[in-house]
Amino acid sequence: QTTYTDKGEKPEKGKFVKFHHVTFWVGNAKQAAVFYCDKMGFEPVAYKGLETGSREVVSHNRLSLTHIKHGDGVKDIAFQVEDLEFLIKKAKERGAVVVKEPWIEQDSYGKVKCAVVQTYGDTTHTLIEYLSPYKGLFLPGYNAPVVKDCLLPKLPPGLLNFIDHIVGNQPDDAMVPVSDWYQNCLLFHRFWSIDDKQIHTQYSALRSIVVTNYEETIKMPINEPAPGVKKSQIQEYCDYNGGPGVQHIALNTSDIIQAIVNLRARGMDFLAAPDAYYESLRENLKTSKIKVKEDLKRLQELKILVDFDDKGYLLQIFTKPVQDRPTLFLEVIQRHNHFGFGAGNFKSLFEAIEKDQDARGNLTVFTSK
Ligand SMILES: [Fe+2]
Repeated sequence: QTTYTDKGEKPEKGKFVKFHHVTFWVGNAKQAAVFYCDKMGFEPVAYKGLETGSREVVSHNRLSLTHIKHGDGVKDIAFQVEDLEFLIKKAKERGAVVVKEPWIEQDSYGKVKCAVVQTYGDTTHTLIEYLSPYKGLFLPGYNAPVVKDCLLPKLPPGLLNFIDHIVGNQPDDAMVPVSDWYQNCLLFHRFWSIDDKQIHTQYSALRSIVVTNYEETIKMPINEPAPGVKKSQIQEYCDYNGGPGVQHIALNTSDIIQAIVNLRARGMDFLAAPDAYYESLRENLKTSKIKVKEDLKRLQELKILVDFDDKGYLLQIFTKPVQDRPTLFLEVIQRHNHFGFGAGNFKSLFEAIEKDQDARGNLTVFTSK
């Protein structure tokens, strides 16, 4: 693992503030929204559709060739920015493809400026700058949800607070060009990276570079399969997704034990680490400099993973894929002075995924293209 301390030069102007929102393209938005709300504890905040005067967009029932190719998944990751014009000008100068030039969206609650740039695969980034404090529910054009789901108030809260990081899977040899794109075009810098020599199973190995903005509020790991592995889950992802795309979204919680108790009660399904994982964890913790505050027995029951170094630790757990195709999944993460991504758990994560891959017939049948 490498951590990078050089943030590079502070951009003269412009700023990426934080993740703003994520747009999914799905075959049935009404049903997908119910899944995220019921199973993951999301709440409906706003709606745009026929009832709110929108005929060309969303939020319900957009089928396109892009969607048919990739299946349900993440189409766009939006960032809140300052000085959007400067950021777009810079990105363009450095070769970024601007899908949509800056435009203004407004309604009676306020005004925002937006622009869209292309990133890996068919994924895009929307940049959003507030031109005035926005007093509406979400963004101009959105209204209150039309229907209320009377089940939601009866369910225990998901306790998920914000997006911690969003990971993009790339095919062979595409990781460095993609991370370079973030560094050149969005003025991001490298934050962390990991080599395939450190983490592999018989079938899977990956390389990963994490890029982040100057303030380090937006973390974007970029993965690629390591060369020569028999069959990588990243290859499985790319095959089923029809190319690169978002592999997982990590959601931050400040109480992972209660969050997972609640999400399991809501019927959410998570990958299960074997008991052997907890045996070796207990062994390794004996000689470590840090102490895990949470009850290990409880973590084991809930199948929550632990990764640590001399200064701190993180707790994390991964869902199974959240659509038919083995593509996008979610992560829940709690950090205790640890800023990694769970590299110590990748191996057991791979092994858990491989069990499911095997069940799908994709562990040995597939060959890397
Ligand atoms: Fe992650």
